[in-house]
Amino acid sequence: MKNLDHLSADDWDELHSPRPEQTQFDDVVASAVSRRGFLRGVLAVGSGAAVMGTGVSALMSSTSAARADGHARFAFDAIPAQTDYTVHVPEGYEWDVLARWGDALFSDAEAFDPQTGITVASSDRVFGENTDGMEAFVVDGRQLIAVNHEYANVKTNLPWKGDAEFTADDVTILQNIQGVTVMEIAEGANGWEIVVDSPFNRRIHHNTPMTIAGPAAGHEMLRTSADPEGTVALGTLNNCGAGKTPWGTYLTCEENFNGYFGASDEASVDTPAFNRYGVNAKGRYGYELHQARFDVTQEPNEPNRFGWIVEIDPANPDSQPVKRTALGRFKHENAACVIAETGQVVVYLGDDERGEYLYKYVSNGTYVEGGPTDGLLDDGTLYVAKFQDDMTGRWVELSPENTGMDAGQILIHTRMAASAVDATTMDRPEWVAVNPVSAQAYCALTNNRNRAVKPNAGGDPTPVNGPNPRAENNYGQIVRWLPDGDDHAAQGFRWDLYVMAGNPIVGQADYKGSDNIDEGNLFNSPDGMQFDTTGTLWIQTDGDDSNEGAYTGMGNNQMLAGDPETGEIRRFLTGPNGSEVTGLTWSADLKTMFLGIQHPSAPFPDGEGALPRSAIVTVKRTDGAVVG
Ligand code: FEO
Ligand code: CA
Ligand code: CA
Ligand code: CA
Repeated sequence: MKNLDHLSADDWDELHSPRPEQTQFDDVVASAVSRRGFLRGVLAVGSGAAVMGTGVSALMSSTSAARADGHARFAFDAIPAQTDYTVHVPEGYEWDVLARWGDALFSDAEAFDPQTGITVASSDRVFGENTDGMEAFVVDGRQLIAVNHEYANVKTNLPWKGDAEFTADDVTILQNIQGVTVMEIAEGANGWEIVVDSPFNRRIHHNTPMTIAGPAAGHEMLRTSADPEGTVALGTLNNCGAGKTPWGTYLTCEENFNGYFGASDEASVDTPAFNRYGVNAKGRYGYELHQARFDVTQEPNEPNRFGWIVEIDPANPDSQPVKRTALGRFKHENAACVIAETGQVVVYLGDDERGEYLYKYVSNGTYVEGGPTDGLLDDGTLYVAKFQDDMTGRWVELSPENTGMDAGQILIHTRMAASAVDATTMDRPEWVAVNPVSAQAYCALTNNRNRAVKPNAGGDPTPVNGPNPRAENNYGQIVRWLPDGDDHAAQGFRWDLYVMAGNPIVGQADYKGSDNIDEGNLFNSPDGMQFDTTGTLWIQTDGDDSNEGAYTGMGNNQMLAGDPETGEIRRFLTGPNGSEVTGLTWSADLKTMFLGIQHPSAPFPDGEGALPRSAIVTVKRTDGAVVG
């Protein structure tokens, strides 16, 4: 999340909920220096493949499936970095716009106004703002996309407002343009378009009723005056990354939910839990001025009803979304779902904040195709990752015995439970992606300028450590793990770094990046990630696109393709300046990629003088071949 009126969610949190200052700074710096020796061990060998880790890379070749078709991994030539206001793709590919903020989902929506945007009356009848995670589904032979609308850009979405106080109508517009869209799409003479008025089209927003399910449902910390049972919440907030279950449902992930709450009495936010989750006295969108539930002085439990994974059935537009409490509560990035060898459902989950943790959920029951799925996301075990410097690691169960918390508290205050077991503080876990052709998973650790500088929001120290090897890490890295026995439900794993982003033009030592980074594929801040069906890893970035200083040569945010076996990384697409590239899925025939352009600057996509609009774009090959 970036560019939210020029303040990132993390920066907002640090401004309003300052972290405790590091008290043992010298120790941390000393640790950072000694860690350099370890880093050389990981990255020392000269070939591109060496970055994938001494010890582990040998294992990689024995477990990874070779390319079945015998063809080269990449069917395109790398493109150069760009700093302009449009999208670039390689020779032999073409791109187009599928859907922009304000495009009609229903024919009763008023037309988007290029100067003022949308009216309050139409705000829940159109495609929402700030597209993020998305997944495609086929239902009754029709193609659907479920897509997140993460947050709002007040200056863009309410261009008439200026510095005036938020009105009730302003709040309604902001609440309606965030959340999730489910829409039918079809390809015709004009390319891919929204099927306006499809019975599957649906907007899920900040006031949509949601069931609270799983072990924490009904917990006293989830009860409010409007919902004394603690079982039905209104809305889903800050929908960031996504996931898809094998049974055809969409998982939307609530990330920086804290910023939507305020307090009429500042003293009410001064609790350990609010400090840990960053709930503070002033909300970003004025919700607390118009809806009492967003004022934590009046409704102190309302924030506990957000920060969850929410399951949505795109095939049934009348279904009520379900918050799955068994998957824990934190600033969820995405939900990477995989069926383990045992048949258990495994969901990998990142908590995107500086110095927070990486988790996984393992169901008790097993999935059988076509069988019942009730309980698979309600009854299971939540683990947090602990990485060792010897390139092994363990998933530590969060239990009453090792946390001192009851089962409901563990799920509602998951961050505190993870701190209690001394899990490994990470450099902002963004998306996890699971390789479909080899038992391995990857997590983008986007960056962390506080590494070895400050503790996390809970006061846990953040010295450099195995998968987070650089102090003041402004570039980010991708960690990869192989579960023991190729079983994603196993508790042990081996890990290495797939790539350390960096800058060989201006960077020194570890800040040059790993051996698979060169002047032709520079990037910073890996974030979105998806594997395609061939086992190619697609990496999207959400970083500094100034193209200056430490970021010289990196250009705009982009999407690159990575080969898990050789470590080669190639730039495939560049986004317009100001934007983040996030969210990726494919058409049923794999001939079209759909990807998200979030928070672009004008003139994207409608030209000079028009408001900028986040958009889903399509990418196809001009020869009609598959792209995934
Ligand atoms: Fe919404 Fe961590 O990105
Ligand atoms: Ca974002
Ligand atoms: Ca992200
Ligand atoms: Ca990000």
